[in-house]
Amino acid sequence: MNYPKTVQLIDVGPRDGLQNEKQTVPADIKIRLIEMLEAAGIRKLEATSFVSPKWVPQMGDNAEVMGGLKRRSDVCYSVLTPNMKGFEAALPFRPDEVVIFGAASEAFSQKNINCSIAESIERFAPVAAAAKQHGIKVRGVISCTVGCPYEGDIAPEKVAYVTKLMRDIGAEHIGIADTIGVGTPLKIQRALEAALQYVDLDHLSGHFHDTYGQALANTLAALQLGVWQFDTSVAGLGGCPYAKGATGNVATEDVVYMLHGMGIDTGIDLDKLIDAGQMISDFLGRPSPSRVARAVLNKRQAA
Ligand code: HMG
Ligand code: MG
Repeated sequence: MNYPKTVQLIDVGPRDGLQNEKQTVPADIKIRLIEMLEAAGIRKLEATSFVSPKWVPQMGDNAEVMGGLKRRSDVCYSVLTPNMKGFEAALPFRPDEVVIFGAASEAFSQKNINCSIAESIERFAPVAAAAKQHGIKVRGVISCTVGCPYEGDIAPEKVAYVTKLMRDIGAEHIGIADTIGVGTPLKIQRALEAALQYVDLDHLSGHFHDTYGQALANTLAALQLGVWQFDTSVAGLGGCPYAKGATGNVATEDVVYMLHGMGIDTGIDLDKLIDAGQMISDFLGRPSPSRVARAVLNKRQAA
C-alpha cells in the first residue's frame, strides 16, 4: 500500500469544535487556542465563521477573534462564509481562505443554511467570485456525504453532483464531510471516489466526525486512496448545531499519533498539541475524548 509521505491537518477546533458549545467561550480563549495550535505546528486552521449570530451565537465574536489574532505568515487562516453578507464581514480581516459549505442532502441544506442545494450554489457563486478577485482561496465543504440525520443514507452520485456544482462556481478545493459520523471505510471511499470524478487528490480533503467511533478507520481508508488533507479537531471538539446528536470531529491528537506511527510526516509536535487540547478541555470543564491525549496525560502523571 502506498501511503502519502506527508499529510496536512487542518485544525477546525476553533470553529467546528466550539460552534456547538452552549457556554460562552470568550474570544481570548479562542485566540489562545489558535496560538497553542500554531505552536504545536498546525499550519492551517478554521478560525471562525461569518454566519448569523442568531443561528450560531458562539461564532458571534468572529470580528473579535479575527481582529485579535497575531497572524503568522506561515499559517493559513480559513473562515466560513455562507453568503455575501458573511464574505463582506470577513473581508476586512483578509482571511487566507473562505469556506462555502453546502450539503449532499436537500433536507440538511434547508436545516443548516435555510435554502435548497440549488439556492445555496446561487449564494456561493458571488462569494467565490469575490474571493478570487481579492486573491482569497475558496474551499467548498459538502456535508452529509454518506448519511444525513433527516434523509438517511446518501448516494455517492449526490456527492459527485454537488462537487461538480461547487467546482463549476470556482471552489478550488472540496471537503467531503461525514457530518454525523455514520460513515464506515468503504462508504467513505465511495464518497471520496465520487468527488474524485471532478477534483484531483491535491484538492480534496476528508472531514470525519467520530460519532460512531469510525473516524480513524475512515481516515485510513481515505489515505489508502491517496487523500492527504484532513480536517481534524483538537480534543475531538465539534458538532453542528443542525445535526443533533452528532459528536466532534476526529481528534487531531489521535490522527497525529496514527500518522506518525505509520511514518507519515505532519509537522506537528504531539506533546504541544496535547497541551492545547488540555487547555481547552480544562476551560470547558470536561476531559478530552481523545484516547491518545488521555494515554499521554496518564503517562505524564505517572512519570
Ligand atoms: P437566512 O435567515 O436564510 O438569511 O440565513 P437571510 O439572508 O434571509 O437573512 C436573515 C437575517 O440574517 C438578516 O438579519 C441578515 O442580515 C442576517 P435581520 O435583518 O433579520 O436582522 N444574516 C447574517 N448575519 C450575519 N452573517 C451572515 C448573515 N447572513 C444573513 N453571513 C444563513 C442564512 C446561512 C446566514 C443562516 O442559515 C446561518 O447562519 N446558518 C448557520 C449555518 C452554520 O454556521 N452551521 C454550522 C457550520 S456548518 C458545519 O458545521 C458543517 C461542516 O463542519 C462540515 C460537516 O461537518 O458537515 C462545515
Ligand atoms: Mg463538521
